Amino acid sequence: MGDLKGITQNLVKLAELGIDAVWLSPFYKSPQKDAGYDVADYRSVDPLFGDLNDFDELVAKAHELGIRVMIDLVPNHTSDQHEWFQKALAAGPGSKERSYYHFKPGRGENGELPPNNWQSMFGGPAWTRTEDGEWYVHLFDSSQPDLNWENPVVQQEFEEILKFWLERGVDGFRVDQPHAMGKAEGLPDHPYVDEAGAGFIEGRENPPMWFQDSVHEIFRSWRKILASYPGERAMCGEAYVLPLSFMALWVRPDEFHQTFNFRFLDAGWEKDRLVAAINESFEAFDAVGAPSTWVLNNHDVIRHASRFGGDYGRATASDGIGPENPQPDNALGLKKAKGATLFMLGLPGASYLYQGEELGLPEHTTIAPEHRQDPTFFRTGGKRVGRDGCRVPLPWVRGGLTNGFNQTDKAWLPQPTQYADLARDVQERDPHSTLSLYKSALKLRKELALGEGSFDWVSTDDLLCYRNQDVLVVHNFSKNEAPLPEGELLLRSGSGALLAPDETVWILSRT
Ligand code: NOJ
Repeated sequence: MGDLKGITQNLVKLAELGIDAVWLSPFYKSPQKDAGYDVADYRSVDPLFGDLNDFDELVAKAHELGIRVMIDLVPNHTSDQHEWFQKALAAGPGSKERSYYHFKPGRGENGELPPNNWQSMFGGPAWTRTEDGEWYVHLFDSSQPDLNWENPVVQQEFEEILKFWLERGVDGFRVDQPHAMGKAEGLPDHPYVDEAGAGFIEGRENPPMWFQDSVHEIFRSWRKILASYPGERAMCGEAYVLPLSFMALWVRPDEFHQTFNFRFLDAGWEKDRLVAAINESFEAFDAVGAPSTWVLNNHDVIRHASRFGGDYGRATASDGIGPENPQPDNALGLKKAKGATLFMLGLPGASYLYQGEELGLPEHTTIAPEHRQDPTFFRTGGKRVGRDGCRVPLPWVRGGLTNGFNQTDKAWLPQPTQYADLARDVQERDPHSTLSLYKSALKLRKELALGEGSFDWVSTDDLLCYRNQDVLVVHNFSKNEAPLPEGELLLRSGSGALLAPDETVWILSRT
């Protein structure tokens, strides 16, 4: 599975990569029905990954190396194995214990129909019926019941959980699905469920399970708790809220410090959408004084080295690519991915990278059904293969069945054969590898303080170009090679005498 000790051992490699912080996905006690996003005990480490002592050692080592540690807080839902849910099931309808979650009688003559039309993000209805006939809501898997955030006991408990980890020295939290925590009074039907599928719809229409205004008070109280601890503690919300002008409300000075910018990820590397996403980002985040963030990958979407090598739009980015789907052109994908990353890392603001993208790893697109883990696969009868393809263990050292991931030679998801040549140790020795490109980019980004820099478009035509202080960043969106821009060449995602299609270059050009 990999464990906390393994991370601690390899943190030095992340320091060499040049990152500022790590975000760990959930390592708490969990039945692992959704890769740990089904938490059974928020104050523990799952024995699969180690114990609290291992966690303390990880934090200490990270801090020694100058790396901050952000952990994943999962407040929208617990595991069905959480003590609260088990007690709620036992206590029965109308009990205080059931008020920690959303339990309701069903519709229909005998309550045999779900209380409303909500759909799970992983497919199928968002309601499951209990043995006594009541239903409970779960926007994700049936093993992930949604908490009732109107209940002060729930609010209080999460404040204590925050303090528990802040006292252990964490630098902050990535908050899972904060936009789902509030639910509209009475849990009414979703008016657009036919067009919006699982219920996501852009804008302020305020679907009953997303973007409820009631959540802002919660974030304000969390922000105060973070501020009461020494040092700088921060929280980043996985707030899938669009348009960005609406999302900006989430990063007002007394709420989240940052939110992920999925508008940027969703732009799909199409020039006009990208330009619009960048413009909207600066406009929206500047308006509330928050840094813009940028992201191209995470554990929920097809890796960009494959996503850009085929026609995989936003709607299917979390559906994965299976053996039955059109296969990506990974060579083209990687070329574009490197160009895209270099373009992103030149932007002012905070950039989030997903483990393995620094190796240029492609998506694993041929995982056999018996290895599948993602609940999406099971809830859709395999129609959507889900996210396992981007979650395959990293190849650290070429050779063996897991390329150095562990000593047992068994990994919880199998690696594709092409990962051997992409192993980290191979790339470390190659100055032209994807890893070397990421290292150089992060080093320069830090030296030139690009993260705290400025932004101006120089051109929005096919040679897309912006200036960040003395650095020009140019990406070739055209189908033709172009002359390299004048100035001192700092870094580029390709090679050759000309700027190739899909290539990005950083040029020093003092004004
Ligand atoms: C978002 C997480 O990133 C994803 O992996 C998880 O399945 C859902 N939230 C539910 O917790």
